[in-house]
Amino acid sequence: MPSIIAGNWKMNGSLAAAGGYADALKAAESRALLIICPPFPLLAPMAASFEGSGIALGAQDCHARVSGAHTGDVSAALIREAGATHVILGHSERRADHGESNAIVAAKVAAALGAGLIPIVCVGESEAERDAGEAEEVVKTQLRHSLPENFAGLIAYEPVWAIGTGRTPSAADITAMHAAIRDALTGQFPASGPATPILYGGSVKPENAAVLLALPQVGGALVGGASLKAADFLAIAASAPSV
Ligand code: PGA
Repeated sequence: MPSIIAGNWKMNGSLAAAGGYADALKAAESRALLIICPPFPLLAPMAASFEGSGIALGAQDCHARVSGAHTGDVSAALIREAGATHVILGHSERRADHGESNAIVAAKVAAALGAGLIPIVCVGESEAERDAGEAEEVVKTQLRHSLPENFAGLIAYEPVWAIGTGRTPSAADITAMHAAIRDALTGQFPASGPATPILYGGSVKPENAAVLLALPQVGGALVGGASLKAADFLAIAASAPSV
C-alpha cells in the first residue's frame, strides 16, 4: 500500500494562495497518496483544482448530526458535496479547544461514514500521560471509545506534546505505539483492523520524514505546519518508502 501523506492546514491558508499550492502539487509526481485538509471555505475551490489529479481533499471536522440548528457547524454531507473524500476527526486541538470527548468523536465518525467520507481519527497522549507511563493505555482507551462499530478509515497517532513543537518521540516509542494501536484495532475490528492505515503526526518535516515513514506500521504522516508550503509537503511525500 502506498504511504498516505495528509496535510492539515488548520486555520491557515487563503483563497488567493490555494490555487498556486494546488498547481504545485499537481505538477509533481508522487508515489504517496496525498490528502490536503484546508479550512472549509477552500474545499470546493480546491476540489475543482484537484479534479482528475488523484490528490484527495479532506475537511478538519464535521458535525455529528445530519442537519439542524447548529450555528457555525458543517455537516458531513455538505463536506462530501463540496468535493472532499476525507475528514480529520478527534484532533487534539478539537478535543482541547472544543471539549470533544471520545463519545462526541465516535458520533462524528459515524456521521462521516454515513455521508461517505473516510475519517482520519486522531489519538495521542499528553506529555504528562507519557511521563506517567500511561501513553499506551490512554491511546487504547481513545480507540475503544472514539470508533463506532462500523469504523472504516485511517488512524493518526499524534502525541499532543509533539504537535507544533519540533519534538518527536523516539523511533522505538513510535514503533511500540503503532504496534499497540495495530493490536487494539485488530482486536476491535478483526476484519479491517490488520490493514487499517496508521499515520504518525507531530512535527513531521522534510528533515525527519524519511526516518519516521520507514518505521514499522507507520503507513504515512499527518503533517501540520510543514504542509503549508507545497515544496515542504512534497519533500515529505518524496521521503515515503517505495512500495
Ligand atoms: P505539526 O501538526 O506537524 O505542525 O506538528 C500536526 C498536526 O497537528 O496534525
